[in-house]
Amino acid sequence: MVNIQMTALKGLRLMIEIRDIKKSFGDKVVIDGISAVMEAGKCNLIIGSSGSGKTVLTKCIVGLFKPDTGEVLYNSEDMLHMSDEERKFLRQQIGMLFQGSALFDSMTVEQNVMFPLDMFSKMKYKERKNRVNEVLEKVNLKDANKKFPAEISGGMKKRVGIARALVLNPKYLFCDEPNSGLDPQTSLLIDKLIREITTEFNTTTIVVTHDMNSVMEIGDHIIYIAEGRKEWEGNNTEIIFSKNKLLNEFIFASEFLQDAKDMRMLEAKGKIDNNRNMDEMLK
Ligand SMILES: Nc1ncnc2c1ncn2[C@@H]1O[C@H](COP(=O)(O)OP(=O)(O)OP(=O)(O)O)[C@@H](O)[C@H]1O
Ligand SMILES: [Mg+2]
Repeated sequence: MVNIQMTALKGLRLMIEIRDIKKSFGDKVVIDGISAVMEAGKCNLIIGSSGSGKTVLTKCIVGLFKPDTGEVLYNSEDMLHMSDEERKFLRQQIGMLFQGSALFDSMTVEQNVMFPLDMFSKMKYKERKNRVNEVLEKVNLKDANKKFPAEISGGMKKRVGIARALVLNPKYLFCDEPNSGLDPQTSLLIDKLIREITTEFNTTTIVVTHDMNSVMEIGDHIIYIAEGRKEWEGNNTEIIFSKNKLLNEFIFASEFLQDAKDMRMLEAKGKIDNNRNMDEMLK
């Protein structure tokens, strides 16, 4: 307990490392030996087609599913071998925006965002309310306190979900499909918000997405999974140059995007430092 608390309090390089994670449901192997390191202050993206296992992998990392084998290390501490108390403490440092926002329909925006504080903090009501207002302001939702989820737009729901994920001041932030169902401009605002939070609070942020704008906008570190395996890993510049066939078929599916990739490649090639090893980029 003390060990984790101390490292968390130091707030330095809070990275997540997963080692050889495997997860099956019955005979169906969904995650087939994935390893990766996700660093603090970065937006770590998990991409892949629908059904490839992104949500299952994410749930294995946050502890909502128990992997069949493998290690999930939070700052070198294996979540799977912690005591219940240690795991509970760690979970309070994890903020999660679920796929589809998962707000409580019968609660107001304020009550939704306050929920984790009601569960885990000993703050007085006034303090909790101040904290809720603080995070709602952070996501640009100052006047929505008394509204119910049914009364707000999809983009606002995502922002309420992000506010709820942030309310306990997490070190680790998980966002499963933060842009699904949103128009490109609203998606960009959500991406910018996630980027801002990640930089400002040095969170280790993991974003599950199949939104290509997000990949280009916030993809500091991208893991592409296909059929439960890590097929490719790199950043948003390297992805343009990648020759991985499966990856290219996945992200540059349309002719239009293929043209855009070619244009971007020409443009980026000009910017690349001549000393940089092109072979590395072409992996
Ligand atoms: N609780 C479960 N029980 C059995 N099978 C499951 C369970 N959860 C997920 N699966 C299966 O695991 C596979 C991967 O699902 P997952 O939800 O991780 O996909 P995804 O990559 O997140 O897809 P999407 O982009 O559509 O959200 C699917 O075939 C799904 O049916
Ligand atoms: Mg999913």
